[in-house]
Amino acid sequence: MPLKKNSTRAAQRTFNVAVIGAGAIGHDHIASFQQHPAARVVALAEVSPERGREAADKFGISELVEDYKLLLKRADIDIVSIALPNYLHARVALDALRAGKNVMLDKPMATNATDAARLVAEAKKQKVLLMVGQNQRFVPEVQTAKQLIAKGTLGDVYHAKTTWCRRSGIPRIGSWFTQTKFAGGGSTYDIGVHALDRCLYLLGEFDAAAVSGKTYTQFGNRGLGGGNWGKSEIDPKATFDVDDLSLALIKMKSGRTVLLETSWAAHQPENDINRTQLFGTEAGLDFPPLRLFSKTASGYNVEQVDHLPNLVQENRMKHFVDCLLGTAQPYVPPGESLAVQRILDAIYLSSKTGKEVRLK
Ligand SMILES: NC(=O)c1ccc[n+]([C@@H]2O[C@H](COP(=O)([O-])OP(=O)(O)OC[C@H]3O[C@@H](n4cnc5c(N)ncnc54)[C@H](O)[C@@H]3O)[C@@H](O)[C@H]2O)c1
Repeated sequence: MPLKKNSTRAAQRTFNVAVIGAGAIGHDHIASFQQHPAARVVALAEVSPERGREAADKFGISELVEDYKLLLKRADIDIVSIALPNYLHARVALDALRAGKNVMLDKPMATNATDAARLVAEAKKQKVLLMVGQNQRFVPEVQTAKQLIAKGTLGDVYHAKTTWCRRSGIPRIGSWFTQTKFAGGGSTYDIGVHALDRCLYLLGEFDAAAVSGKTYTQFGNRGLGGGNWGKSEIDPKATFDVDDLSLALIKMKSGRTVLLETSWAAHQPENDINRTQLFGTEAGLDFPPLRLFSKTASGYNVEQVDHLPNLVQENRMKHFVDCLLGTAQPYVPPGESLAVQRILDAIYLSSKTGKEVRLK
């Protein structure tokens, strides 16, 4: 177990949490940890005094600072939960890991695989828990699908299609989300990461052999397709220079293939298409809702499947605390998040070079 053996709170079975970043998802981090009886959110770091004060008052957090490094010096803090713009993920997570903290890091893990690999190595060195907040992996449909695959219901799964495509859902245009220097990338890093992570989790395979990708910027650069996600400031002069649609053909090392499609904005029939399809030799599966497709003697069967009991609990922060308590095993190992990051990087590289990227 990653907890330091001499930790008093490990013996007492309670954990002090510091959340860094009190924007849109920072509130979810705080509220989610507060649902675990063994977790206490005792401190918050936020550079915006208004957003910091609002969250501290709303959630009753006693310490509010602007500089997160002050919190890393507090020996009584066990967990650091990071809800920051993407470009700060690796830097702040590395600082927290070096300070010996267990780190819950929101997605994407980093803005490049080199930084992501540093995090994996540091967590291992420090013997602390590092987990990326891939909440889509926790949904009951995904967990149930995983069990069906493990039982052999699909036979050999040889191909998958995974999609998160919005019609008009670019996070607030002009915020950090829409600038490469702060976000690293656009829809691919923001929601493509979820669609890809849950699909590879279901396949049980994370290492890709080759990636062909193509990204587009068609709407945000014209001020179109905006949604209202995010609380950070808008820079009206900022250039929209991230992708608002991307697709990729990923050839896994086993020979299986994955088609990934993601968009923040696109002319499409539905508002939001957020689904994964798996193709097996005996049956196919898609969700949501979770359905199985298979041939029968008399025709073709399409069956809706109920969620199975005894799944990993859906609140990823509660799960994180359960892992520290030793009552759950980490459901999102950091090595898997690193592999996902490698593929995301390869999509951008392939789009830039116009060539397939081969991964070692
Ligand atoms: N898991 C999910 O489904 C999910 C959903 C939404 C967002 N996210 C991720 O969460 C992260 C944050 O997204 P958001 O929507 O909350 O963004 P946001 O812009 O609403 O909030 C970011 C906050 O970080 C603060 N901040 C910036 N630099 C800081 C620093 N050095 N120290 C302390 N605070 C600082 C900003 O002032 C802001 O309040 C992103 O990486 C995003 O990808 C994950």
